Amino acid sequence: MKMKNKAAAGLLALLMAASLTACGSSSSGSTTTAAGETTAAGGTTAAAAETTTSAETTTAADTTAAAETTVSASSAAQTTGAATAGDLKTVEAGELHMATNAAFPPYESVGDDGNFEGIDVEIAQKIADKLGLKLVIDDMDFGSVVTSVQTGKEDIAMAGLTVTDERKQNIDFTDSYATAVQVIIVPENSDIKTVDDLQGKKIGCQEGTTGYLYCSDTPENGGYGEENVTAFPSGANAVQALLTGKIDCVVIDNEPAKQYVAENEGLKILDTEFVSEEYAIGVSKDNNGLLTAVNNALDELKADGTVQSIIDKYIKAD
Ligand code: ARG
Repeated sequence: MKMKNKAAAGLLALLMAASLTACGSSSSGSTTTAAGETTAAGGTTAAAAETTTSAETTTAADTTAAAETTVSASSAAQTTGAATAGDLKTVEAGELHMATNAAFPPYESVGDDGNFEGIDVEIAQKIADKLGLKLVIDDMDFGSVVTSVQTGKEDIAMAGLTVTDERKQNIDFTDSYATAVQVIIVPENSDIKTVDDLQGKKIGCQEGTTGYLYCSDTPENGGYGEENVTAFPSGANAVQALLTGKIDCVVIDNEPAKQYVAENEGLKILDTEFVSEEYAIGVSKDNNGLLTAVNNALDELKADGTVQSIIDKYIKAD
């Protein structure tokens, strides 16, 4: 193991603790998806037909009647002490614009029905509800997610976005809501067995991701050299290149990796320790009010089990 060994081990322990928690609270049977309430930029909020389930009704203000008529986000606001819409400065009054790259299941993707879906989408919807704002999802290249928030074009960055010191110089982060590990996908018959075998191999990553940044770094810094790493627009594109033998492996976050391997014959994830990371929501450094409000809402959703039940809905304990 070459990189960040100690941090990786410590965070791995954290991750294991998190997955143990996940085992304890299953949310199967939930039929409501936040994706149904969410529309692309410029659209209107759909009055989604909803069925309330116990998992969805953990917040006091959420009566069945209110849940069935989610017409305007403000009428469904479940503000509990956090700042309300009126106090908050957002790109568009009354709206919460989320910058994402919806090619990263199970955190964000476009479902068969054309709606955005995933863990980040549902958590963002709950946060918007609490703040009395209408969630608007703006899908873009992953490389634009941080800069769009930094330059004030978007309110929040939520994209399975790893907290890094470099990104912290450009945007602020909320508390973390998930942990992840970078993993290596290889063909079943690959001679790559551990991270140490990556030397001199052709590595594929999604552009702008931490996986790309680690791998393309110099060998002195624990990387494999820029010349050995190809950046693809999405993880799925990298996996296609792997399937056709253009590259030898793909380095990407563990949950999308699991989905790609499940969807494609002949691939496996190496059982080798790699870098551990924390996902959090990015907010502009110039909008402390929004940062605090989003963080408070997120903390409440973590404390009452909502975040865990959303994660459990998409990630089944294995
Ligand atoms: N966690 C990695 C990072 O922050 C990858 C995130 C990719 N997310 C996406 N929506 N494509 O760099």
